[in-house]
Amino acid sequence: MLVVAINTSATTVDWILTELLRHPHVMKKIHKELEQVVDLERVVEESDLESLKYLDMVVKEGMRLHSVLPLSQCEAMEDCVVDGFRIRKGSRITINNYAIQRDPNVWSEPEKFLPERFVGSNIDVRGRNFQFLPFSAGRRSCPAV
Ligand code: HEM
Repeated sequence: MLVVAINTSATTVDWILTELLRHPHVMKKIHKELEQVVDLERVVEESDLESLKYLDMVVKEGMRLHSVLPLSQCEAMEDCVVDGFRIRKGSRITINNYAIQRDPNVWSEPEKFLPERFVGSNIDVRGRNFQFLPFSAGRRSCPAV
């Protein structure tokens, strides 16, 4: 519990801050949004998050590029066929989130840090969109999502 909670959160923040240092124009846009929404006179509160749309996109883009748990483990609950592959009930499946989140068939310019790619998109972090699984999906996804 301690390992999955501390290391994941810290590494995610490290990567997002790294990308902000590498992309000063994104950092400026975040500052502007914080000035408008939070006013910089107080700290950000959970109730502000709904209004911090650009910050949300920056966090998602950071998590897309830098998956802190790049491989997810799942177990097939029943016999099934996926893309012509027969998978037996009880099989252990490893999902490569890193590869999916940088797949050029799904993401344009996948290696670039472009928070704006999430403008007008309804992709969220809850595992409903299989091209973006920072907290995995299904019953064994992250309970702290
Ligand atoms: C940015 C932060 C985090 C990320 C990106 C993250 C990501 C993930 C992912 C991808 C999994 C699924 C692993 C797999 O499929 O094998 C997972 C599982 C888990 N996470 Fe997180 N996590 C984060 C923070 C946390 C925090 C803060 C906690 C606890 C307070 C936590 C507790 C857990 C637990 C207990 C599991 C195992 C669930 C199970 O096996 O049923 N995570 N996390």
